[in-house]
Amino acid sequence: MPVVATTLPLPEGALRLLEGIGADVRGPEGWAGALGEAEALVPLLTVRVDAALLERAPRLRIVACPTVGHDHVDRAACAARGIVVTNTPDVLTEATADLTWALLLATVRALPQAERSLRAGEFRGWGFWDYLGGDLAGRTLGIFGMGRIGRAVARRAGAFGMRVRYAGRTRLPEEEERALGAEPASWDELLAASDVLSLHAPLTPDTRHLLDRDALRRMRPGSYLVNTARGPLVDEAALVEALRDGPLAGAGLDVYEREPEVHPGLLELPNVVLLPHVGSATRDTRTRMAMLAARNVHAVLTGAAPLTPVGGGPR
Ligand code: DGY
Repeated sequence: MPVVATTLPLPEGALRLLEGIGADVRGPEGWAGALGEAEALVPLLTVRVDAALLERAPRLRIVACPTVGHDHVDRAACAARGIVVTNTPDVLTEATADLTWALLLATVRALPQAERSLRAGEFRGWGFWDYLGGDLAGRTLGIFGMGRIGRAVARRAGAFGMRVRYAGRTRLPEEEERALGAEPASWDELLAASDVLSLHAPLTPDTRHLLDRDALRRMRPGSYLVNTARGPLVDEAALVEALRDGPLAGAGLDVYEREPEVHPGLLELPNVVLLPHVGSATRDTRTRMAMLAARNVHAVLTGAAPLTPVGGGPR
């Protein structure tokens, strides 16, 4: 009976699938104690799957991340032990792109600030110069990382009349650039041209602190940053300075350098919208993510090929 250790409670459908192959599923309370016997591990992104953890799991055959991001997994250590790593591309693309736009709009129009003011009893009737935000139509949205989520964000930009420029690892085929209305740029050009810069790259050694102090200084005066990818792409201490002293007008963040900690400077600033890492948090999307992780476990434990091995395509 293969043991599956999962750090999140799996939905009914996933449990039925795994129990169908006789798996013994050990949930959030029992997963750590079950590592010694586990052939599959489903780790939330708050669990570091490193060489030390793998030492305790000698029978492991698959690490099935229930997320698209897998920076919490040491892939080299897994590969050295022949352990397959899978993630959940596609199933969260639209929900994450929706949230990116919700955060972008909330940030540029300073909506949470306006709502807080109303709840505090400060709304005294329509005021011509009150609660002003920025415009989107005719402005440039810069996207760093044109994988699945970056492209879904770009697709929505036309509805708001924004121009799209992008940079990153992958250059799109010209036909797709035309369809998205997206023009390629270098990183430096993107920093200089974007009225709103939205990050959609995975966290790798190359992208850690991509937006450091120097890059932040080169952003357009009065521009906005939106980050729904990974916190460590941005040097948070430098971001606080760029929001306080310029050039940034505001930032919308869903992810942080040291989650669940949020840089105290960010909490104090009025021009920042802060969300608790909810990019993919819809009921259906999270169910699809958990189901895909379970289907990957099912595949590997029954000797089939994993459905979505990491490295199978751009994010
Ligand atoms: C992921 O899947 O990597 C997200 O950050 C959680 O939605």
